Amino acid sequence: MENNININKIEADKQLEIIKELNQRFEEEYEKTGIRKTYHIVTFGCQMNSRDSEKISGILKQIGYVETDTEDADFVIYNTCTVRENANNRVYGRLGHLGTLKKKRPGMLIALCGCMMQENTTVEKIKESYRFVDIIFGTHNIFKLAELIKIRLDNEETGGKQSDLMVVDLWKDTDMIVENLPNDRKYPFKAGVNIIFGCNNFCSYCIVPYVRGRERSRNPQDIIEEVKKLASEGVIEVMLLGQNVNSYGKNLNPPMSFAKLLLEIEKIEGIERIRFMTSHPKDLSQELIDVMGASKKICKHLHLPLQSGSSRLLKIMNRRYTKEDYLDLVERIRKAVPDISLTTDIIVGFPGETEEDFLETLDVVKKVRFDNAFTFLYSKRTGTPAAIMENQVEEKVAKERFDRLLAEIQNSAAKSSSRYEHTIQDVLVEEVNTQDENLLTGRLSNNMLVHFAGDKSLIGKLIPVYLEESKGFYYIGSQVK
Ligand code: SAH
Ligand code: SF4
Ligand code: F3S
Repeated sequence: MENNININKIEADKQLEIIKELNQRFEEEYEKTGIRKTYHIVTFGCQMNSRDSEKISGILKQIGYVETDTEDADFVIYNTCTVRENANNRVYGRLGHLGTLKKKRPGMLIALCGCMMQENTTVEKIKESYRFVDIIFGTHNIFKLAELIKIRLDNEETGGKQSDLMVVDLWKDTDMIVENLPNDRKYPFKAGVNIIFGCNNFCSYCIVPYVRGRERSRNPQDIIEEVKKLASEGVIEVMLLGQNVNSYGKNLNPPMSFAKLLLEIEKIEGIERIRFMTSHPKDLSQELIDVMGASKKICKHLHLPLQSGSSRLLKIMNRRYTKEDYLDLVERIRKAVPDISLTTDIIVGFPGETEEDFLETLDVVKKVRFDNAFTFLYSKRTGTPAAIMENQVEEKVAKERFDRLLAEIQNSAAKSSSRYEHTIQDVLVEEVNTQDENLLTGRLSNNMLVHFAGDKSLIGKLIPVYLEESKGFYYIGSQVK
């Protein structure tokens, strides 16, 4: 453990040194040309990827790149997702367009990273059909980005065809957590904080454990230091991130529970709201429920992926809970935190799903009355156990069930999420409304959005708002003066 920390410190120092060197080169170039090089990051996938993109952005800014909001940039990075097939298709679609752009922009660099790159087949395909890509890296070595850029630029100086210049650096897994590298946060008032990387659960449909590696928890001291620093910079809401936050700390020495980590973060002055994503039902402890019940800062929202309501399918999915376990858990949570909002993820059309299995899922949706649910058509991911199961569900059948599920969710969600209508609630104001610039958009503790008229100066503040009308998945409100 001690040894590991040293290696990581050496690695961080080495990268900071390379960033400095590249920055000098960029400054010299700027003096000659008067033009700063631009970058643009396109992020696919989940919050883990969004957080990684902030780290990438931090490195690029320190090198001397400036951010731009179009792909017509000197450096374009796609941070990819592979959780479902359509995530991959979107990347290939856009990549073709990027190749055309590059032909018109000499010196343009293109990098691909993220979960898709951790799959051999993807990388083979890119090497073969998308030779114009300059840098490929994965989920485990983001901290090395500056070094990879340097190698790519040095390759060019020593000459060579474009097709020989591609830099590919992919790690199968890692036990390293490199702290203290640059960082460029999207919002000044709320921040995502990684607490655990990777996943050990191997749900039989899911690719994530193969592309994100084994579970690694950050040291609690590092997390607490980071949150304290954020608070001192004006952040009032933190979102603790991990594929399965409930197994935080199990492999630390000494072990530590997620609930204890929350207690520590609760103590940090300036932090007003604490959120976390995602909880696996099998690891959600009574200790955590009790901490949530007693907390003043933990938000009244829990995202608790169900996946299926059929105990038979849950077993084949390797989820390690039954329908009854899930319902019991919901009951215990609601008892401790009566006004909690529950949201979930559900997969429809998992191999072998029968009408009876599907009805079990509908039954759970009716019983729990989720505030919202993200529903997905099962997508076959090569390399996962479910991909080679023989009884794949016909697309037509899956789609028909998907529509029935969606109707049920919309029905129950509209009812349960309107329960705050005509009350005053605290709202963290996040931005000017994207559709109507006279409105502001903010978030309730339960994660629902509220749109209301107000001045831009309120952005980043936690203020009381009267919730006039529920629109199903959001509210229209008015500022309480
Ligand atoms: N770690 C989180 C989920 C990460 S993936 C958890 O365990 O809850 C986000 C969601 O994508 C999952 O909850 C699941 O509903 C969905 N998903 C994952 N693999 C899928 C697949 N092969 N097909 C369809 N949906 C999938
Ligand atoms: Fe995938 Fe399951 Fe891990 Fe979530 S817990 S990331 S669904 S394997
Ligand atoms: Fe996608 Fe990777 Fe997240 S596969 S959902 S970006 S962990």
